[in-house]
Amino acid sequence: MFDTIKEEIQVVFERDPAARSTLETILTCPGFQAILFHRFNHWLWNKKLYLLARLSAHFTRFITGVEIHPGAKIGRRFFIDHGMGIVIGETSEIGDDVSIYHGVTLGGTTWQKGKRHPTLEDNVVVGAGAKILGPITIGAGARIGCNAVVVKDIPMGATVVGVPGHVVVKKDNNDKTAQREAMAKKIGFDAYAERKDMPDPIQNALDSVLDHMHKTDQEMDELKKKLETISKKINNS
Ligand SMILES: CC(C)(COP(=O)(O)OP(=O)(O)OC[C@H]1O[C@@H](n2cnc3c(N)ncnc32)[C@H](O)[C@@H]1OP(=O)(O)O)[C@@H](O)C(=O)NCCC(=O)NCCS
Repeated sequence: MFDTIKEEIQVVFERDPAARSTLETILTCPGFQAILFHRFNHWLWNKKLYLLARLSAHFTRFITGVEIHPGAKIGRRFFIDHGMGIVIGETSEIGDDVSIYHGVTLGGTTWQKGKRHPTLEDNVVVGAGAKILGPITIGAGARIGCNAVVVKDIPMGATVVGVPGHVVVKKDNNDKTAQREAMAKKIGFDAYAERKDMPDPIQNALDSVLDHMHKTDQEMDELKKKLETISKKINNS
């Protein structure tokens, strides 16, 4: 748990140039507070303590201005800047290293139950006031401009602006830059950010290694999920 808190604090320093000290972050950063409370609220939700989870989420909203449904699944190193006015719906799914600003809504467009909120893949950035609506997927590394209203799937690495949101910068589907950058970051390889897509045999070799690691990670995740399902079945029988 302390590792998670340390990681969340570290993220504030990485992505908020105004952050000055750890104590200041803990005491005055509503985004940090909201995500920390959400980790606890989501844990309550998974333990089927629904009312307690909702009450705690309501309290979190009261002190931070950030409304995250306790059922929402949020990955590691999630960064919320400013916080006020953010709404994240129950069936939202957020990958690792995602950043969002104040006034963002991850909302539904139907009153039907089931998956009705967006999925944000790793490294997505959502600008202030943007609304992302429906069970759509925002591809890894995509950037959503402030005040955009997005109602359709967005490809990996694209930049989207306007109402309705339209892509202004699109990366080739075969461009794995966002995915590779995410993997490089995960293993702490900062120098990767220095590359400017120069044709370089060492860079090519490194890209292959990063792609392979990404694939292995995905397979490990799938295996983990399968093992969890099997162990749940064994425990219930
Ligand atoms: C969308 C965004 C990521 C694009 O950044 P960028 O890659 O530097 O792109 P540019 O600024 O070159 O803009 C590309 C085009 O989109 C337009 N554009 C950029 N942001 C826009 C927005 N939010 N709404 C409408 N159009 C926008 C630009 O005018 C430009 O149009 P042009 O090519 O016709 O001149 C950025 O503008 C943005 O909105 N970031 C969110 C920042 C934020 O919310 N900060 C809050 C801090 S408190």
